[in-house]
Amino acid sequence: MLEGFCAGWSNPLTSAELYQVLSNSYKIALAKDKGKIVGFVHAISDKVKFAFIPMLEVLPEYQNIGIGKKLMENLLEQLKDIDNIDLICDKELQPYYEKLGMIKYTGMVIRK
Ligand SMILES: CC(C)(COP(=O)(O)OP(=O)(O)OC[C@H]1O[C@@H](n2cnc3c(N)ncnc32)[C@H](O)[C@@H]1OP(=O)(O)O)[C@@H](O)C(=O)NCCC(=O)NCCS
Repeated sequence: MLEGFCAGWSNPLTSAELYQVLSNSYKIALAKDKGKIVGFVHAISDKVKFAFIPMLEVLPEYQNIGIGKKLMENLLEQLKDIDNIDLICDKELQPYYEKLGMIKYTGMVIRK
């Protein structure tokens, strides 16, 4: 049910890895069409003060019809008691997340 994600990644997750990632997450939201997962978002958290949203993905043929927005709204509602919610995205996606109530911020990462 988790085929076709991570399109264009140099090192894409396998569907088994994606299943593990979602299973081990604190909260997830899934979009389904005819029994197949067409979009997902997930959050990891200390369950007290901090949460991080690592991935939001909608299958290419299901993009631009509001699924990503609905997934984020659903996840943010599930995280409503967490004060600090972080997400890393490309600059061109910042206006997308601003529409969901997020603000621009500066951070640091390690990428292996
Ligand atoms: C980004 C993504 C999750 C959006 O999901 P979606 O269901 O297509 O989005 P929605 O239908 O809710 O919203 C569409 C809006 O997002 C904008 N958008 C989509 N992809 C975008 C991109 N790469 N850069 C900038 N804006 C983008 C569209 O222009 C549209 O804008 P509008 O509301 O002003 O018309 C989806 O395009 C996707 O899976 N992309 C590949 C993975 C990715 O980049 N994930 C984000 C990681 S931070």
